[in-house]
Amino acid sequence: MAIPENIINEIRERADIVEIIDSYIPLKKAGRSFKALCPFHPEKTPSFYVSPQKQIFHCFGCGEGGNVFHFLMKYLNTSFVEAVKQVAEIVGVEIPEKEYRDSGTKKILDLNKLVMEFYRKQLNSEKGKTCREYLKSRGLTPDIVAQFRLGYAVSQWDALVNFLKKKGYDYKFLIEAGLILEGKDSGSYYDLFRDRLIFPIIDNKEKVLGFGARTLGSALPKYINTPETPVYKKGRILFGIHLTLEEIKKQRSAIVVEGYLDMISLYQVGIKNVVASLGTALTPEQVRFLKKYVDEAIIIFDGDQAGQMASLRGLDIVLEEGLRAKAVALPPEYDPDSFVHKKGRDEFLKLVENRQDIFDYKLNTLLNIYGKDSLDARIKVVEEMFLSIDKIPNYLVRSECIKKLADKVGFEEKMVWDQYNLRGRKSSRINMAVPGPAVNKKYAPVEATLINLMITRPQLIEELKELLSPQEFITPELQKLVEKIYTIYPDCERLKVGNLLNFVSEDEANILAEIMSEDIECSPEVLDNLLTDCVIRLKELRIKKYCEFLMQEIKKAQTACDNTKADELLRELNDVVRKSKINI
Ligand code: GTP
Ligand code: MN
Repeated sequence: MAIPENIINEIRERADIVEIIDSYIPLKKAGRSFKALCPFHPEKTPSFYVSPQKQIFHCFGCGEGGNVFHFLMKYLNTSFVEAVKQVAEIVGVEIPEKEYRDSGTKKILDLNKLVMEFYRKQLNSEKGKTCREYLKSRGLTPDIVAQFRLGYAVSQWDALVNFLKKKGYDYKFLIEAGLILEGKDSGSYYDLFRDRLIFPIIDNKEKVLGFGARTLGSALPKYINTPETPVYKKGRILFGIHLTLEEIKKQRSAIVVEGYLDMISLYQVGIKNVVASLGTALTPEQVRFLKKYVDEAIIIFDGDQAGQMASLRGLDIVLEEGLRAKAVALPPEYDPDSFVHKKGRDEFLKLVENRQDIFDYKLNTLLNIYGKDSLDARIKVVEEMFLSIDKIPNYLVRSECIKKLADKVGFEEKMVWDQYNLRGRKSSRINMAVPGPAVNKKYAPVEATLINLMITRPQLIEELKELLSPQEFITPELQKLVEKIYTIYPDCERLKVGNLLNFVSEDEANILAEIMSEDIECSPEVLDNLLTDCVIRLKELRIKKYCEFLMQEIKKAQTACDNTKADELLRELNDVVRKSKINI
């Protein structure tokens, strides 16, 4: 989906890059800028700068730079569009959802609302009695049932099919919406959910994305969910968020459980910063969503799941996304729902109180599983923990974890480091893992000065356009950049460096941010001289480079004994030198 440019600019202008970057890595004031240890390469002294005036960041160590969108793209390893959407949410700009208007998405969302009401009505009907009794047996009050808009799908095969047919919906669309299925005899259709308790899955914008449906007895599967549809994407959903996002934002903390009823039961006893991940470990999408609102996520593990390797590995995604997370393991045979019903809210909160950092939690659990009596066991723990350490994007956090690991498992820290480095870091974020060598500037200082002047003093561009064509720049990326600046030029809004950065490639963005990180202070009189001086120097430089090129070619021709070509090149060289009157 392409987001209109004026909206992108509006979002960027409303956003404060300092505030947003500071929410990921703490920034310190340094003169007119802010600085921090660069999150993109390991370093001991800060060379990562953020400028509130220019709304850009730049690392003098590794050369990464750009505007607020580039930061999020790199830091969260996400796309430009996703980065824009995230900032839009922070600054409260509504992006017109073209996708949403044009496709069947809106139609499915409307249909889902209708279907939700249909199931609610059934729950309160005569036929809904067993389901109402089931809800009561699970300890849910009518008020909670209403708040979560729970419903009931009757046991009839075609209750929903008939209802929607009468409303004029066609079968193909209802199948696409994931509500009905086609029978073996073509032309026969039946309801997906029958004789089940219905949990509508509603997002924080009150859209009904789909449904979960639990059997009232022991039928299998226990739960059926809406299949993937244009609006229901497994792994992106946090159940209960429509009721709890406000509280989550307020507390800046979210309790994450697995099941529908776990979430509802905690909510019912007044623990209101809770969401359910719905039967899987947290996905990157879920983590990124939460990260925008919380400083800490508290992941609750069922008692019998706590020691499972799969659930331990599930934590790695949280580490990878850099979400600060804690873990709580319930006693064996409990899940959050049964725990609060049996032991009550205060006991539950006591457990939460004693939460562990997820890295420590995984380490302690592994030590419980393997013990540390044998060398073999200790190595297993270390190897398994390396998988987690690999995921940690921040070098400093990684170092701390290695220290902790060495300490707990009883190896010399240096040995653990050696072993870790020996095997190589297996990160999925290759770019972030590469230690940034100080970049050799790929362009000439005079090119940088000229571009800096164009952007900070756009009134000069008209004159520059006459003096200098984009092709006269030496560095290819800068030629492209100048071409863009010349085209954009009359529109000063788009020329602001923060906005301009939206139209350039990532490589160009790095260079541009680097160029703009310098301030050129000079009086108007000096400015005029500076400009002409730069133009002349660039032209000279270009000729010099051309001469160097010619001389190389002459040498080549001579080595190849191609005298005609050598002569021709020599003549060209003399010509250039004479015309330009420069010494080489
Ligand atoms: P109750 O038995 O009603 O207390 O549900 P629960 O939430 O405790 O169930 P469980 O711990 O078995 O599963 C946790 C979550 O995983 C559920 O809330 C569902 O979201 C999901 N889940 C469990 N079983 C199934 C299943 O058979 N199919 C699907 N699609 N999801 C399931
Ligand atoms: Mn349960």
